[in-house]
Amino acid sequence: MAKPRVLVTRRWPAAVEARLSEIFDVQLNLADKPLAPEDFRAAMQEYDAILPTVTDKIGAPALELDRPHTRILANYGVGYSHIDLNRVNEHGIVVTNTPDVLSECTADLAMTLLLMVARRAGEGERELRAGLWTGWRPTHLVGTKVSGKTLGIVGYGRIGQEMARRAHHGFGMTILVYNRSPVAPEVLAQCNAAQVDSLDELMPLCDFISLHCPGGGANRHLIDARRLDLMRPDAFLINTARGEVIDEAALSHALWFDSIGGAALDVFDGEPNINPQLKNSDRLVMLPHLGSATREAREAMGFRVIENLEDFFAGREPRDRVN
Ligand code: DGY
Repeated sequence: MAKPRVLVTRRWPAAVEARLSEIFDVQLNLADKPLAPEDFRAAMQEYDAILPTVTDKIGAPALELDRPHTRILANYGVGYSHIDLNRVNEHGIVVTNTPDVLSECTADLAMTLLLMVARRAGEGERELRAGLWTGWRPTHLVGTKVSGKTLGIVGYGRIGQEMARRAHHGFGMTILVYNRSPVAPEVLAQCNAAQVDSLDELMPLCDFISLHCPGGGANRHLIDARRLDLMRPDAFLINTARGEVIDEAALSHALWFDSIGGAALDVFDGEPNINPQLKNSDRLVMLPHLGSATREAREAMGFRVIENLEDFFAGREPRDRVN
C-alpha cells in the first residue's frame, strides 16, 4: 500500500524529520518559510496530511476549495487559533494538536519572563552590553521582590497549572485563578490556589498576572484598556499565550503612562511584526515566541504529531483531535 503523502510546512528537529520520512512519503519545506495561502491551498489538493505550525494562517484564502484532498491537519503546537475550525469542519478535515509535551517548558519560560520583568534583567543586560554600566550602587536598577507575592493565572489548563506549581512551590507565591469553567478542588489544592469568579475580580488582586488561555476570536483583547486599568499600578502582566489576547495599543498606553508596573511578552498580535509603540517602553520585556523552544519539547511535539498521524492512518481516533 502506498505511504500517505505528508507535507511538513516548516523545518522540524532532525530526529523527527528522519522518523517521519521512514513512515510516510514526506515533503519537507527546505526553505523553512511560511507557505503563501495559494501554496497552502494547492497543497490541500495534493497531500493526505499537512503538518502546519502557528505561522500558517489557515483561514478563508487557504481553504477556498470545493473538495480538498487533505484529510488531516496535524498541528505542530498546542495552540490552534491560527486554524479556522469552522471552515475546516465544513470539509470534514481532522485537526490535532500537541498538548502536554510542551507545558513544562512553556511554564519555565513564563516564569523566566516574570523574573526578568520583576528584576529588570532585560534593562540590565542592555545597559551592560551598551557599555553604560558604571558599577554597583544601592539605587541601581532596583526591581520588585517575587517571593511571597500574589500571582493571578488566566486559564488554568496544563500550562497554567505548571506555572502555578513553579510559582507556588518555588517562590512561595499565592495563586489566584481565573478560568472559564470551574477547576476541580483537588487541582486547585495542589498549589493551594483559589478560583475567582471573574477576570475583573482577579485583575486588582494580583502583583503578577500570567496569561495561559487560548487565543482566537473569543479571547481577542480579553486584556483591554479597561482591564489594564483594573491592575495595580505596580503589577506586571506576562503573556506566553497568544498575542491577540492583549490589546497592544492599550498596553503601550498603560506602560507609557506608568499605570502598570511592567509587562513581559513572548507572543504578539500579528507576529513577527511588532507594534512599534511597544518597543518604546523600558519596562517591557520581549522574547520572540520561545515558549516551547527547547530541544526536548520540540522533539516531543514532533513525535506527538507522528503518533496522531499513525493513529489517523490506521483508522483509530487520534488522541489529540481537537474538532
Ligand atoms: C504552541 O504550541 O502553541 C506554540 O505557541 C507554538 O505554536
